[in-house]
Amino acid sequence: MLLSVFREKYQGEPIVVNAPGRINLLGEHLDYNLGQVMPAAIDKRIQFVISANGTDYFSITAFDLNQSQTFKINELDPGKGWLTYLKGVVQGIKNRGKEVGGVNCVFGGDIPGGAGLSSSAALCCGFAFSLNEIFDLNLTRKEIAEIAQFAEHEFAGVKCGIMDQYASLFSEPDHLLLLDCRSMEHQLIPFRQEIFSILLVDSKVKHSLADSAYNDRRKSCEEGVKILNRRYGQVNSLRDVMQKQLGEIRAEMDEITFSRCEYVLQEMERVRRGAEFLVNDDLEAFGQLMYASHQGLSQRYEVSCVETDYLVDLAKDFGLIGSRMMGGGFGGCTINLVARDQQSAFSEFVYSQYKNRFGIEPEIYPVKTARGVHRVIE
Ligand code: GLA
Repeated sequence: MLLSVFREKYQGEPIVVNAPGRINLLGEHLDYNLGQVMPAAIDKRIQFVISANGTDYFSITAFDLNQSQTFKINELDPGKGWLTYLKGVVQGIKNRGKEVGGVNCVFGGDIPGGAGLSSSAALCCGFAFSLNEIFDLNLTRKEIAEIAQFAEHEFAGVKCGIMDQYASLFSEPDHLLLLDCRSMEHQLIPFRQEIFSILLVDSKVKHSLADSAYNDRRKSCEEGVKILNRRYGQVNSLRDVMQKQLGEIRAEMDEITFSRCEYVLQEMERVRRGAEFLVNDDLEAFGQLMYASHQGLSQRYEVSCVETDYLVDLAKDFGLIGSRMMGGGFGGCTINLVARDQQSAFSEFVYSQYKNRFGIEPEIYPVKTARGVHRVIE
């Protein structure tokens, strides 16, 4: 489909690249605190059909939005909208002393925007990966992740961690990534979806404070690190402290900073235990950690909202094995572990209850773990 759009519009022999969105099973808001996280790419993706055009211009068509825009290689003011991310990627590549030329590109896909499935990471990673292929830049996947993160930080203004980019680039089907954001090493944990499947329930709300509140949470954690470091020394991140140490200096922190740091340390512990439960196939115990994670995100870290709290309550009422809000928060999706034979009953239940309560139709996406960014043979 995108290929024929490309052929109608542009010259040149393109390559085709798929870049997936991601879920995260456990470990929310831990990446920028250098903890461990448990994401996986999913079978929803942005596809790029793209080729070099021999000029200094980037001609880009966002197929789903029915928009085409152009920018010049040495005019990389961030601007607004989806082009911001692509310009950020080009700037990030240039900053590494690599040379790229102009391209023609059509992209589009099925990752719902604003749902917390990291469509922006997919956009940046897929575009950077494509440029790497086309211009033989010799960038590693790790470097591509960093370039994509640079685009978010410096062009879009969101001081995100590295989880989304890693998940989009390094995932494998039937596995979760256990990514250690301090050592930047990851393991693949087998995660089969034969008995339990993953259902995302999209609350369809995105509260407008999301980006600034995200940056604000990050600042609180940095503030906590400063105070902890003053007392204990050698504390570069919350990964370097134990819950006991945090407790000992409670009086030196304001309540908000304390409870945010406390959430982070508790969530780090949950990931440690959760990884063991998964390896031992104890999904029930894992599901309990998901509920506990949600509780912490909602009460201690304060990044949930009434809509996603309600969705998790519904999951609990229904008797699901595990459920929690996912991603940065303030709306977006909950992630739910659902026994295969309960999938349609739960979907109907959650749909009608949520619609009754908020007058909004939630969207429900069954998702499977998938392979990270790759070239497609068409
Ligand atoms: C967003 C960010 C990630 C991560 C999550 C919360 O998705 O982009 O880096 O911090 O929120 O876990």
